[in-house]
Amino acid sequence: MSFLDPKYRHLVPYVPGEQPKQTAVIKLNTNENPYPPAPGVEKAVQLAVQQLAKYSDASCLQVRMPLAQYLGVAIEEVFVGNGSDEVLSLAFQAFMANGVAYPDITYGFYQVFADMYQIEAVVLPLKEDLTIDLNPYQSLSQTIVIANPNAPTGLNVPAASLEKLVKENPDRLVIIDEAYVDFGGESMVPYTKHYDNLLVIGTFSKSRQLAGARLGYAVGNQALIADLNRLKFAVNPYNVNALTLAAGAASLADDTYFAAQVHKVIQVRESTKNELVELGFHVTDSAANFVFITHPHISAKVLQDQLRNDQIYVRWFDQPLIENYLRVTIGTKTQMDIFIQSVQMILKEVTQ
Ligand SMILES: Cc1ncc(COP(=O)(O)O)c(C=O)c1O
Repeated sequence: MSFLDPKYRHLVPYVPGEQPKQTAVIKLNTNENPYPPAPGVEKAVQLAVQQLAKYSDASCLQVRMPLAQYLGVAIEEVFVGNGSDEVLSLAFQAFMANGVAYPDITYGFYQVFADMYQIEAVVLPLKEDLTIDLNPYQSLSQTIVIANPNAPTGLNVPAASLEKLVKENPDRLVIIDEAYVDFGGESMVPYTKHYDNLLVIGTFSKSRQLAGARLGYAVGNQALIADLNRLKFAVNPYNVNALTLAAGAASLADDTYFAAQVHKVIQVRESTKNELVELGFHVTDSAANFVFITHPHISAKVLQDQLRNDQIYVRWFDQPLIENYLRVTIGTKTQMDIFIQSVQMILKEVTQ
């Protein structure tokens, strides 16, 4: 006998990338940053431990203030949550009365949220080259959600094209998920000043090395942010814990470290792309901290399994259209050298 409400019986939860227990594994499967958080984070978290007997600040000002400053918006235009997954979850609950539209190949959680909250979803195909065709979105009535750069393709839509969509659809909300924007995308945050139907969502998980702290945010006009707060305060006012607030603030205090690590990831991504192309891969022009690759002589699943034998984890999606692709997170230069060596050996055996 199941006590689960029948409305959830069909729900297929999101499957997160594996987190292996062995430390020897080279983990290129969940788009984490290979570098540690900014040096000031550890001290800030230690100090925050002393305050743990108290609830965290529900207004999250410690992060919202410097984040607003960094993004060039007002504090009232910034919402923070327990990872951008929570911010997305609240946005799906808040803003999808007319349904939602998103691309068929994108962040898998959109589908899960739509199912969870029983939102009608219009799923639009990518173009053959895996880019997003914005034209069909123009004539819909649903809220639009676009990851930009998209995951897992890494491909970026120019901000000007997205602005056109936002501008020409003033009665519909457009949500841009910018989880990977710092690695080469163009942020829509400045446009939130001009359009009250634009909500931008971001995260500290990728470019700020804080995936385990769970800190995400949304930027939009004050009315949108007030709506998100209405839901947050109805569910979990202390959604961001005190240690995470301290870590986020310390990360924002160190621009130099942030810029230097992002630069390193981009450099390693570009050299990895070149090496993969030389090995015969098709590699999308990723603007994110991962590459999306396919090879004419080896199936993606086989390559994934063989890399796994070498203790290298990458992400394969058992999904039509992309089942012959692998998503490979950009690690350190040393990790990527080992990855390339391993791929070379595997290819050699296949083509012998
Ligand atoms: C496109 C996209 N959005 C949002 C997230 C969620 O990130 P987090 O909840 O760690 O902020 C991810 C995570 O991989 C992602 O790929």
